[in-house]
Amino acid sequence: MSEAGLQAARQKMIDAGVSTPAIEVFTRFYHLLESGETGVIREDTIEPLLDPPMLADVDITDAEAREAIGKTVIIKLNGGLGTSMGLDKAKTLLPVRDGMNFLDLIVQQVLAARERYDARLPLLLMNSFRTDEDTLAHLARYPELPVEDLPLSFVQNQEPKLRADDLTPVEWPADPSLEWCPPGHGDLYPALEGSGVLDALLEAGFRYACVSNGDNLGAAPNATIAGWFARSGAPYAAELCRRTVNDKKGGHLAIRKADGQLILRDTAQTAPEEMDYFTDEHRHPFFHTNNLWFDLQNLRDTLVERNSVLGLPLIRNEKTVDPTDSSSTPVIQVESAMGAAIEVFEGATAICVGRDRFLPVKTTNELLLLRSDVYNLTDEGKLVACTDTSPEISLDSRYYKTVQKFAERIPQAPSLRKATSFRVEGDYTFGTGVVVKGDVTLPDAGEASTVEDGTRLEG
Ligand code: UTP
Repeated sequence: MSEAGLQAARQKMIDAGVSTPAIEVFTRFYHLLESGETGVIREDTIEPLLDPPMLADVDITDAEAREAIGKTVIIKLNGGLGTSMGLDKAKTLLPVRDGMNFLDLIVQQVLAARERYDARLPLLLMNSFRTDEDTLAHLARYPELPVEDLPLSFVQNQEPKLRADDLTPVEWPADPSLEWCPPGHGDLYPALEGSGVLDALLEAGFRYACVSNGDNLGAAPNATIAGWFARSGAPYAAELCRRTVNDKKGGHLAIRKADGQLILRDTAQTAPEEMDYFTDEHRHPFFHTNNLWFDLQNLRDTLVERNSVLGLPLIRNEKTVDPTDSSSTPVIQVESAMGAAIEVFEGATAICVGRDRFLPVKTTNELLLLRSDVYNLTDEGKLVACTDTSPEISLDSRYYKTVQKFAERIPQAPSLRKATSFRVEGDYTFGTGVVVKGDVTLPDAGEASTVEDGTRLEG
């Protein structure tokens, strides 16, 4: 039954014009799925990673840094839709500060680094079929952005969603576009290869790629890390941050006992009874930021050697064919994570960077912080925290979870610079010039309420 399922899925991909590397990668994952592979990494098979080099200790000459950044391309993952914030287009199109969205700030960061280091520094977005048109339309306002003949984006692959009951490609005549999904950001490697962009970059003389999530405005071009990476001679490097007691989520690196290889372990690869180890910030003191570097030539050679299949671990994502309708047909989406490639490259390494390189926006709590005066926006497009610790924000998910509801109720961020924590329980709409100080909780009044212009909330 499932061999027929695989053949049907492959044929569907061929008919849709999906590239051969992507079909081969999908086929390997399909076999793993069929074999019941869970991908669980047991605690007793790994050693914690305790002493990565620190960016703060890196001593790179200006010349080394310039040379390395001059051979670097900046890649931003931009294929997701930010569904957890209720968005149906690329999250990077969402306004962050002063009328500028994530894309505008990313462009500003790249243009500033080009000027500072006299580097070509191309910007490349990995888009999905859902985000490419909108984001390219937005980038058209920056005619100076394209570098030589390189494109501004490449589009990641799409694959069929599989029925959970028999692993055949799901059919959904009501909206056939819902029969397809992007294969997670592990698709970066086959998409780079299959689109021809990897070869184009190598031909244009680029050697290093720095990749990060489009919603992480902390991951600006950094010549010191580029210089460190070039000097290391490593094929691949991951950026890590030191964990605090609040950093329970996010994968961590570990050393595989069997062969000493660095690997990434995510929540999905941890057995439920071993989650205590996973979340223990003393045992595994660094988390993976999803900012990473790789050597383009080495990637090319590895892909050739492995017939385009890097062999990343499988992520089995259970959903419904229509994500907005939990009663629609249950499906499995076969995915992989870009950072898992660390286990493929012998000699891969890692570096611990400052928290300033990790500013993801996954929820409206984080969006509120970035919009507030806790961050200053520099003229190089960087958001710099002006307090030592950020206040803890918790907005009532009933009224603020989606960007639309959030924007209706908080059109202007209150001042949070002097806040320690800010909790909103219930339905409040905020006026302008509101100031929050100390620990403030607005209790649920049981009805929609307004916080008037200029109110000072002090806890
Ligand atoms: P996440 O899935 O963690 O981020 O992907 P998200 O966009 O916040 O997710 P949802 O939709 O709200 O659940 C991390 C980064 O990888 C990109 C996303 O756009 C984001 O920048 N991504 C993810 C891709 O480019 N392609 C994929 O197939 C998946």
